[in-house]
Amino acid sequence: MNSILVVVLAYLIGSIPSGLWVGKVFYKTDIRQHGSGNLGATNTFRTLGKKAGIAVTLMDILKGTLATILPILAVFQGSGIHPLVAGIIAVVGHMFPIFAGFRGGKAVATSAGILLGYHWPIFILLLIAFLLCLKVYKMVSLASMFAAVVAFIYALIYGILYNEYLLLIIISIIVVFIFYRHRSNISRIKKGTEPKVTWL
Ligand code: G3P
Repeated sequence: MNSILVVVLAYLIGSIPSGLWVGKVFYKTDIRQHGSGNLGATNTFRTLGKKAGIAVTLMDILKGTLATILPILAVFQGSGIHPLVAGIIAVVGHMFPIFAGFRGGKAVATSAGILLGYHWPIFILLLIAFLLCLKVYKMVSLASMFAAVVAFIYALIYGILYNEYLLLIIISIIVVFIFYRHRSNISRIKKGTEPKVTWL
């Protein structure tokens, strides 16, 4: 019973469309009608500004972290669901949210939240990789995919050294999710039309 509860809760937590709800409640704006049309943190920054963007980034990260720690909460102990599995279920919820017609985000912030909850040093490393790439190329999408590749390399080395094969598997799946969800960004990057951030 606990296992079903953890799976359902992790999916529902991931399904919370932070960008969409913050936009609708506080700005009377559906961010899916603006910018890239995505309901993630980047398009929130783009459409609603820094304050909303930061709030949505934190909320999306928190979704991954919260789902990851669900199985270790006393109330759900013995669920048999691994924290990383609960985390990736939240990412699936984020990409296919029941509260937003199953049209969700690109998996970046919520996946980062899993790593913050499960293995924070990799979160810090990825944050640095992300910011460096963003500083140089000024494209959030490119920085997100670069951080995903760094995560894979880290998980490959760490996974083999410490027998953390599940971490390697979960990160590999997430990397596939991230690249798949960035198909339109990849084609814009190739054409040179991907929007760049102006505040860096
Ligand atoms: O996290 C999503 C980001 O990498 C790209 O978002 O709105 O520019 O497609 P967007």
